[in-house]
Amino acid sequence: MRKMTRAVTVGAAAAGLLAVVVPNVMANSPGHEHPAKPAPGHSKPGGSDPAPLRALAQKAGIRIGTAVNSDALADEAPYEAKVGSEFSSVSPENVMKWDTVEPARGTYNYTQADALVSYAKAHGQLVRGHTLVWYNQLPSWVTSGDFTADQLRQVLHDHITSEVKHFKGKIWQWDVVNEAFNDDGSYRDDIWLQKLGPSYIEDAFRWAHQADPKAVLFINDYNIEGVNAKSTAVYDLVAKLRKEGVPLQGVGIQGHLDTQYPAPHDIATNMARFDKLGVQTAITEADVRIPLPADNTEVEAQNEAYQTLLEGCLLTRNCTDFTVWGFTDKYSWVPSTFKGEGQANIFDENYQPKTAYTALSQDLRLAGR
Ligand code: G3I
Repeated sequence: MRKMTRAVTVGAAAAGLLAVVVPNVMANSPGHEHPAKPAPGHSKPGGSDPAPLRALAQKAGIRIGTAVNSDALADEAPYEAKVGSEFSSVSPENVMKWDTVEPARGTYNYTQADALVSYAKAHGQLVRGHTLVWYNQLPSWVTSGDFTADQLRQVLHDHITSEVKHFKGKIWQWDVVNEAFNDDGSYRDDIWLQKLGPSYIEDAFRWAHQADPKAVLFINDYNIEGVNAKSTAVYDLVAKLRKEGVPLQGVGIQGHLDTQYPAPHDIATNMARFDKLGVQTAITEADVRIPLPADNTEVEAQNEAYQTLLEGCLLTRNCTDFTVWGFTDKYSWVPSTFKGEGQANIFDENYQPKTAYTALSQDLRLAGR
C-alpha cells in the first residue's frame, strides 16, 4: 500500500513537479549577481533541510546509504557525525574487499570491517557487504598464484565461505559478484572468466547462500542504469540463473554518472523489468562527477542526474535502497581516476550540504508524503 502511494506521488514528480526543486540555481546565474550569492552547487546559508536524509528515506520506504571510508570514520569527527545522522545503511568503500580481508591465503583481517559493522549496529544502520568476487583489488597471491582451475575454484570457494560466515547474520545485502560484464554485454575477460568460465558466477552465489542463507545476494555493475547492451546482459543472466534456482536475489545499479553525458532517463523502465523477474534492486554507488571548474549549468545537471537515479529507485516497487559512493567531496575516488573532474558528492569538502543534497531531500519528501 505504501509502495503504491510512493509510486503515484513520485510519478507526478517525475512528470514535471521536480522542475522547481532547486530554485537558487537561476538566482546564481551570471547577470544575477547578489552579495550573498553562494558558490555554484552550494546551498544557501541555513538552507539545508532540517530533516536528515535517513528520516525522509524512512517515510519514503527505502534505506539511504553511503560508502564509508574507514580511516575517515575513525579519525574525523565531522565525517563520523554525518555518517551516523544522515544515513540508514552503510557500505564499506574498501575494507571488505579481497586485498584487505585475505591478504595472504587463509590469513584473514576483519579489523576495520568489524569496526564498521559495530558502528552500523550502534547507529541503527544496515550493512551492504561489498564485495566478494571482483577482478580488482585482488592480492597478488591470487592474481600471480598460477593456480589450476580446480585450485582457483577452491580459493574462491574458501574466500567466499570464510568471509560470508564471518559476518553471518550481520550483512543485509551482499554484492557477491561485481562488474562481471563489459559495456557490450560480453563477460569481462578477467581471471575468473579465463580460468573458471562463466560458471564462477553461479558458484559464487551458491557458496555465499550456503554461508549465510538470510543475506540478500546481489550482482552489481556500472553503466547499467538505462536499457542498453550491458543491462540487458545482466537481465538475461539474472533471468537464466533464477530459472535454474541459483540464489540470486538482487541487482545493484552502481550509478557512477558524469555531467558530460546525458542522465539515464529510462532508468525506471530498466528497473521495472528487474521487478518483473522478482528480484530486488538498489542504486549502490551513486555519484555524479563534473569537469572542473563547475559552472551553474553543470551543477544543475548534477542535481538532475542525482534525482534521475533516486527517482528510478522510488518508482520501482522492489528497489530497497539508494546508496551514495561517499558523501563528501573531501574523500572521493573521482579526482584520482578522472583527471580534471570532481565535486561528485552531495556534501562539499567542509561537510556543507550542496544543492544535490537538497534535490535528493526534495524527492524523498515527495515520495514520503
Ligand atoms: O590501501 C592502500 C595503501 O596501503 C597504499 O599506500 C595506497 C597508495 O596508493 O593505496 C591504498 O589503496 C587504495 C585503496 O583505494 C584504499 O584507499 C588504492 O590505491 C585505490 O586504488 C583504491 O581505490 C578504490 C577503488 O574502488 C579501487 O578500484 C576506491 O577507494 C573505491 O572508492 C573504489 O570503489 C569502486 C567500487 O568498489 C566498485 N565500483 C566502482 C567504485 C569506484 O571505482
